[in-house]
Amino acid sequence: MKFSGIIAAASMFVAGAVAQSTFDMSSLNGSWAVGGLDSTLLMEVKALTQIYNMTVDCPQVYITGSTNNTAYVQPSVEFGWYNAITQSSQKVNISLSGLITLANTTDNNGANFDVKLSLPSIARGLIASQVHMLNSALSGGNSSDPLPHGADYQANLFVKLVSSKNDGVNDVVLASASNFTAVAPSDEGASNFVRRDEASEVPYQLLLVNGSNTLDEAAFQNVASLLNNETHLTKLNSTCSA
Ligand SMILES: *[C@@H]1O[C@H](CO)[C@@H](O)[C@H](O)[C@H]1NC(C)=O
Ligand SMILES: *[C@@H]1O[C@H](CO)[C@@H](O)[C@H](O)[C@H]1NC(C)=O
Ligand SMILES: *[C@@H]1O[C@H](CO)[C@@H](O)[C@H](O)[C@H]1NC(C)=O
Ligand SMILES: *[C@@H]1O[C@H](CO)[C@@H](O)[C@H](O)[C@H]1NC(C)=O
Ligand SMILES: *[C@@H]1O[C@H](CO)[C@@H](O)[C@H](O)[C@H]1NC(C)=O
Ligand SMILES: *[C@@H]1O[C@H](CO)[C@@H](O)[C@H](O)[C@H]1NC(C)=O
Ligand SMILES: *[C@@H]1O[C@H](CO)[C@@H](O)[C@H](O)[C@H]1NC(C)=O
Ligand SMILES: *[C@@H]1O[C@H](CO)[C@@H](O)[C@H](O)[C@H]1NC(C)=O
Ligand SMILES: *[C@@H]1O[C@H](CO)[C@@H](O)[C@H](O)[C@H]1NC(C)=O
Ligand SMILES: *[C@@H]1O[C@H](CO)[C@@H](O)[C@H](O)[C@H]1NC(C)=O
Repeated sequence: MKFSGIIAAASMFVAGAVAQSTFDMSSLNGSWAVGGLDSTLLMEVKALTQIYNMTVDCPQVYITGSTNNTAYVQPSVEFGWYNAITQSSQKVNISLSGLITLANTTDNNGANFDVKLSLPSIARGLIASQVHMLNSALSGGNSSDPLPHGADYQANLFVKLVSSKNDGVNDVVLASASNFTAVAPSDEGASNFVRRDEASEVPYQLLLVNGSNTLDEAAFQNVASLLNNETHLTKLNSTCSA
């Protein structure tokens, strides 16, 4: 009895060890559109964009794995604002850069990651200066230098691969980010970005959809149902200009 108990414990350990390496990083490789967003977060974004008379369109995340347990991530959005001087609408694409590192897997379709993200220098000045904004859009990190001035944020990320059409093709990823923590900047004085100081208790959820098309209503409802309706996601419409 004892012996079989040890065997059982050992095989669970082995199964755990195998599971550890079965999450295929390449299943995250590619360009993902944000097709759903945490309802609370969406309301916050809407309130902010109304205050500043800005638009936030075409949220995307580009992911490319370079090793078995680390991948480069690049979330981006298209910021739009009205330039009162030229009396015209202007747009700029702003991207963050960072790394996700596999912490552990829950099963073949789920894994936890540690995230480090670098804000583009735009966020370091105040958005009031649009010149500042344009400069900085050019000076973010890239895949060869993901954290050019170190990490600004750390977080935990849980991802779950989902097939929106139940056909075994995991074309959707539920991404739940939690425990956002601001990392003290090495150049404290240079940073006047308003940080969310307390680690957020509630995980922020995003639905990532393979490619540039967001989900149709049926696929979105199916995903919500597959996730046991445990999410508070609002479906986003495609807002990419291209
Ligand atoms: C992801 O794609 C990039 C480039 O397309 C490739 O270099 C990398 O090896 C891929 N990673 C994995 C884990 O497949
Ligand atoms: C995304 O879709 C393309 C085209 O259907 C496919 O080649 C690619 O493997 C998919 N990527 C992921 C991560 O599912
Ligand atoms: C990735 O995993 C494969 C198969 O498990 C292994 O052969 C390879 O050495 C690993 N590569 C790295 C960079 O760890
Ligand atoms: C807000 O932006 C819109 C469109 O970009 C513009 O028509 C409007 O005049 C702006 N309002 C203010 C108060 O700047
Ligand atoms: C914004 O820039 C990123 C990184 O270069 C790119 O992947 C994304 O497609 C761009 N988005 C738009 C709307 O141009
Ligand atoms: C998996 O990783 C997450 C994030 O780092 C951590 O919170 C969790 O405790 C880990 N779970 C196990 C079973 O190790
Ligand atoms: C990545 O950024 C670094 C500096 O931050 C720059 O020197 C390098 O040329 C960039 N690489 C690419 C491929 O853009
Ligand atoms: C939250 O993040 C901090 C540091 O950023 C880390 O020390 C802590 O373990 C994390 N908490 C969880 C539950 O993963
Ligand atoms: C989720 O909600 C939908 C309708 O709101 C319902 O049809 C479906 O059965 C629910 N799924 C689960 C797993 O509870
Ligand atoms: C998406 O489009 C539909 C129909 O045009 C609209 O009712 C809905 O409010 C839009 N969703 C969001 C999040 O803007």
